[in-house]
Amino acid sequence: MNLRPKHYVGLLDRYRDRLPVTPDMRIISLVEGNTPLIPLEKLSREAGHEVQIFAKFEGLNPTGSFKDRGMTMAVTQAVHEGTRAIICASTGNTSAAAAAYAARAGVRAFVLIPEGKIALGKLAQAMIQGAVVVQIEGNFDDGMRIVKEMADAAPIAIVNSINPYRLQGQKTAAFEIVDELGRAPDYHCIPVGNAGNISAYWVGFSEYAGIKPRTAACGFCAEVCRFPQPAVTDSRPIMLGYQAAGSAPFVRGGPVEHPETVATAIRIGNPQSWDLAWAAVRESGGWVDECTDEEILQVQKLLAEREGVFCEPASAIAVGGLLRDIARGKIKPGSLITCTLTGHGLKDPDTAIKQSHSGVLRIPAQTDAVKRAILERM
Ligand code: F0G
Repeated sequence: MNLRPKHYVGLLDRYRDRLPVTPDMRIISLVEGNTPLIPLEKLSREAGHEVQIFAKFEGLNPTGSFKDRGMTMAVTQAVHEGTRAIICASTGNTSAAAAAYAARAGVRAFVLIPEGKIALGKLAQAMIQGAVVVQIEGNFDDGMRIVKEMADAAPIAIVNSINPYRLQGQKTAAFEIVDELGRAPDYHCIPVGNAGNISAYWVGFSEYAGIKPRTAACGFCAEVCRFPQPAVTDSRPIMLGYQAAGSAPFVRGGPVEHPETVATAIRIGNPQSWDLAWAAVRESGGWVDECTDEEILQVQKLLAEREGVFCEPASAIAVGGLLRDIARGKIKPGSLITCTLTGHGLKDPDTAIKQSHSGVLRIPAQTDAVKRAILERM
């Protein structure tokens, strides 16, 4: 008898055969995953070269970013091991997800965030969900260093993406893309900050193609992930990573000491998954490039205005970099391309409002005045 519920109950259930999930685990879930793959029809047409571009809108996860995929797996494992507290450094989204899943599990969350450089929505999430929020007078990289030292000193589980269970959860986004399209895309575009997500997607795409990637992440898979499972597709995409120009260690070839960008989610100078990300890019025949803050904001607005998709600045970079690479002739004509939009635009209302002031009219509260204003703009 099949005792599994028929409706969707989260990615640990849906992909349990390919994840380190055991029957005795208490699953900590907010019914994350199963996010839409939205065709960007106008942008595809305007980009030309007969490309088809889809956005995997991860902003529609329960806490508004892709982090929920990794957090359900990492917190489930931490609770299974008897952990009473979790800790992370974060530019915002990880802290929001950690706080939510800790609340769900009934464990304590400690989150270290860079002072003054975190989008308002993310801070609100961590605070209301009961995490202990520690603002440090430093950046994400400082926070990461401290977290690693803390975990050596106290019985507390790190839930940053250096926790391999995070990557295991996050690889399911690649599974969903292939399941939805019925094949692997030709290219996959993704923002790169701490570099965990690009590594996780590569593991996911590789596993679905029945190929063991040469990355260390899959060394870990071999132990806990019941690989190999049957292949679902016969190809893998070329992986394209994009970084903000002021925070682009992969483009510079080494750590950036004082990272800066309007895309605060990826304001990271010393990514932890350096080797895994390089392996993913090289093994797939892809590349990492950068976008300026201006380009990032322009594309964020373009996605919102032309496609009705409101993502945060860090997410827009995936589409921004892609459109530029198409224009430069670097993408094969006729390609099927997917882009991960990692977080929801509502995370960072300040940045959205700042660049949209021209859309707001101030007029007297009189019907005539409103009528005139509308008719002038029809
Ligand atoms: N996009 C968003 C919206 C993010 O929040 C992050 C990372 C990334 C992209 C980059 O992903 O680190 O796996 O390369 N945010 C982390 C955080 C660092 O603390 O929320 P990555």
